[in-house]
Amino acid sequence: MIPNLRGHTAVITGAGSGIGQGVALAFAAEGMTLALCDIRAEALEETLALVTARGAQAIAVPMDVSDPASVAQAAARISAELGDIHVLCNNAGIAMHGVPVAEVTEENWDWVIGVNVRGVINGVHAFLPLLQLHGGPAHIVNTASIGGFQVNAGFRTGPYSMTKYAVVALSEALEQELAGTSVGVSVLAPAAVATGIFRSARARPERLGPGQDNPTQLALEELITDGWAPERVGRRVAHAIRTGEFYVFTHVAMQIPVEQRHARIQQGFARAALWSAANP
Ligand SMILES: NC(=O)c1ccc[n+]([C@@H]2O[C@H](COP(=O)([O-])OP(=O)(O)OC[C@H]3O[C@@H](n4cnc5c(N)ncnc54)[C@H](O)[C@@H]3O)[C@@H](O)[C@H]2O)c1
Repeated sequence: MIPNLRGHTAVITGAGSGIGQGVALAFAAEGMTLALCDIRAEALEETLALVTARGAQAIAVPMDVSDPASVAQAAARISAELGDIHVLCNNAGIAMHGVPVAEVTEENWDWVIGVNVRGVINGVHAFLPLLQLHGGPAHIVNTASIGGFQVNAGFRTGPYSMTKYAVVALSEALEQELAGTSVGVSVLAPAAVATGIFRSARARPERLGPGQDNPTQLALEELITDGWAPERVGRRVAHAIRTGEFYVFTHVAMQIPVEQRHARIQQGFARAALWSAANP
């Protein structure tokens, strides 16, 4: 929890577009200093121009979150140029929708796990020591998804949801381990936000070879065009850091499928109780 964000410094991954850009704009409005990170250096220039136009001090730092060396180098540069770091938003992520689990290629498993899971791990490894170094209040926000709390049967979100469940579990563990210290933790779980998430191929690391967004995934884009504006999500994140919220949901209607999943889990325990009673 950081009750007043003004004058504090934030690192945001995936800041070149979408939610990362929205968080950067919201943080700029709070008077924060920003390190904007993304694998697409050209996209960072747009966000840099937008936040500096709002009076924020900011630097653009190209970074591939799936590459530990790239994240470590960026952390060293940010720390040298901006000094103390107070907020880390592990937000970069890619979609892998519309492909059945059995049809995901080896390279695509490496990509989706590399960015969505290893990206968060790499961010924690490189930046947590820097968040702790100054002893003042600090906060980590990991971007999961509502897909980290239920698997949407209609959109074949298995590979993506698997990585987002991992982000939720990792965040829950971090919250437990950092309880009582100067570093707070939140996990962000948005539903539809109007971004370019379904055009993830534009951000595919070169070492994985050329990629292509599949047509099923591109067709999903119309489902999020009337989603939340990214900056609204950014304001939600700023509020969560100020007040120390852990689970940061956005779309209240998504409570229903999450409750349906929980009801099935409870039914599983009820069956286990019956079986255990009959089979001592
Ligand atoms: N848009 C939604 O509806 C939605 C819903 C729930 C969760 N999310 C999550 O929000 C986060 C941001 O997604 P978005 O919707 O803003 O999409 P987006 O594509 O607009 O933004 C993602 C950004 O991450 C960057 N990125 C991708 N791979 C990277 C890498 N290896 N290293 C560094 N940067 C990389 C991209 O270049 C891009 O700028 C993701 O984690 C996504 O899973 C999005």
